[in-house]
Amino acid sequence: MKIAMIGTGYVGLTTGACFAKIGHEVICVDNDSNKIETLNSGKMPIYEPGLHDIVKEMVTAHRLSFTTDIKTAVHNSTVCFIAVGTPPRGKGEPDLAYVENVAREIATSMEEYLLIVEKSTVPVQTHKWIRTTIERYNRTGTPFDVASNPEFLREGSAVNDFLNPDRIVIGVESDRASDLMKEIYKPLNAPIVITDLASAELIKHASNAFLAMKISFANALAVVCEASGADVHQVTCGMGMDKRIGPSFLDAGIGYGGFCFPKDLRAFIHIAEELGYDFKLLREVENINNEMKLRFIRKIQSVLWNLQNKNIGVLGLSFKPDTDDMRFAPSIDIIAELVHKGAHVRAYDPKAMERARKIIPGIEFCSKAEDVAEDADILLLLTEWSEFKQLDLTKLKKRMRVPIICDGRNMLKRTEIEKQGFTYLGVGR
Ligand code: UDX
Repeated sequence: MKIAMIGTGYVGLTTGACFAKIGHEVICVDNDSNKIETLNSGKMPIYEPGLHDIVKEMVTAHRLSFTTDIKTAVHNSTVCFIAVGTPPRGKGEPDLAYVENVAREIATSMEEYLLIVEKSTVPVQTHKWIRTTIERYNRTGTPFDVASNPEFLREGSAVNDFLNPDRIVIGVESDRASDLMKEIYKPLNAPIVITDLASAELIKHASNAFLAMKISFANALAVVCEASGADVHQVTCGMGMDKRIGPSFLDAGIGYGGFCFPKDLRAFIHIAEELGYDFKLLREVENINNEMKLRFIRKIQSVLWNLQNKNIGVLGLSFKPDTDDMRFAPSIDIIAELVHKGAHVRAYDPKAMERARKIIPGIEFCSKAEDVAEDADILLLLTEWSEFKQLDLTKLKKRMRVPIICDGRNMLKRTEIEKQGFTYLGVGR
C-alpha cells in the first residue's frame, strides 16, 4: 500500500517507519525542513530504541522517504495519515490548527480517491471537521473517506508496541475504508476492533484516562500505605492478581509525566465539559498526580530539615526510562522546587541530559551517575533506568556527605540498600 504520513514526531515517524517495515511504501512529511534534512542525512531527531535501524533499512530498501511537500506525498498515496501535533491551549483544550491546515492542504492536493486517517489524538467529533474541511477545499469533488486509527504507542517501546499491539482500533464509515485499513494492518496479524468514528476517537481518550486513573489510584493508595505501615508494592501485587484489575500501571511513585497522559487527560476533561459533563473523577486523578511531587519534596524535607545549601544528587530526569523525552517529566517540577528552596542540585540521566539542559536552569549536570553523589546529603531516584540498579553503592556512599536514598520510583530493594548502611525512603513503603 502507498501511504503518506503527515507529521514526523514520535508517533508519525515510528508509525511511518514501521508501516514500511511491514511491507508498505511510505512517504513521511513534515513542515520542519530541519527535521526532514536530519532524517534525509541518516540521523534521527529523537531517540527511540530500534527505530534508527528500521529507518536506515527502509530508506535503503526505497520503502521510506522524507519530504516537506504534502502534494507529492498525497499524489503518490492511497492512504494519508494525519499525525501532526495537537498541543494544549489555555484550558488544556487541544489546538487543532495543524490538523485543519493539513486537512486543507490534503484537500487541495487530492486528485484520486484518498483515505484520510486521523492518527493524532483529537477530540471526539474531529472527524466531522476533517470531512467538512476536505469537502470545502477540494473543488474537484474527488471521492474520499475519513477514518480514525488512534495510536497506543509508548515511548521507549514504540516499535515493539507497533509490531505487537494488544488491539488495533479502526473507526470507519464505509466498507472501502474498512478494507483498506484491514489490508494495511494484515501483516501484523493482530486483533482489529472496527467501530464508528466517534467511538474510535473516544477509545483513545478513555484508555489513556483509565491508565492515568490506575496510576493515581496506586499513588493515593501509597499515601494510605505509608500512614498504616503497609507496603504499596505488596498491596498492588495482591490486587493485580485479580484478572479484573490486572497488575500493570499500578506502580506508585512521583506520578505520571510525558507528553501524552497529562495533555490527554486535560483534553478529555475539557472535551467532557464541552459536552456538558463535569468529569470530576479525572480532575481528582490530576490532583493526585500533582500532589505526589509535593509529597516527595516534603519527604525529602522530613529527613534533611532545611534544604538551603543542601547538596542533592538526582539520578534520572526523563519522564520514564528508555527515552530522552523531558516533556512534563516530574523531575522538572521537583528540581525547580528544590532549587527554589536553596538546594544545590547535581543531576545525571543516561539519555535526556541534552534536552534537560535546555529546560532545567540553575543545576549542575554530571557526565557520570556516580558524580551526583559527590558531597551529597541525599540521592534522589527520579527515573527507573535499569543502569541505576547496577550502581556500586559502597563507592557512592564514600562520596556522599550523608547516605540517604529517596527512591521516587520504588526501584531499589529497601533491605539491600539498608544493609549497605543507607537510610532508604520509598513511596508508600
Ligand atoms: C502513554 C500510553 O501508554 C500510550 O498508550 C499512549 O499512546 C501515549 O501515552 P507514554 O507517554 O509513552 O505512553 O508512557 P507510559 O509508558 O504509558 O508512561 C506514562 C507515565 O506514567 C510515565 O511517566 C511513567 O513513569 C508513569 N507510570 C506508568 C507510573 O507512574 N506508574 C505506572 O505504573 C506506569
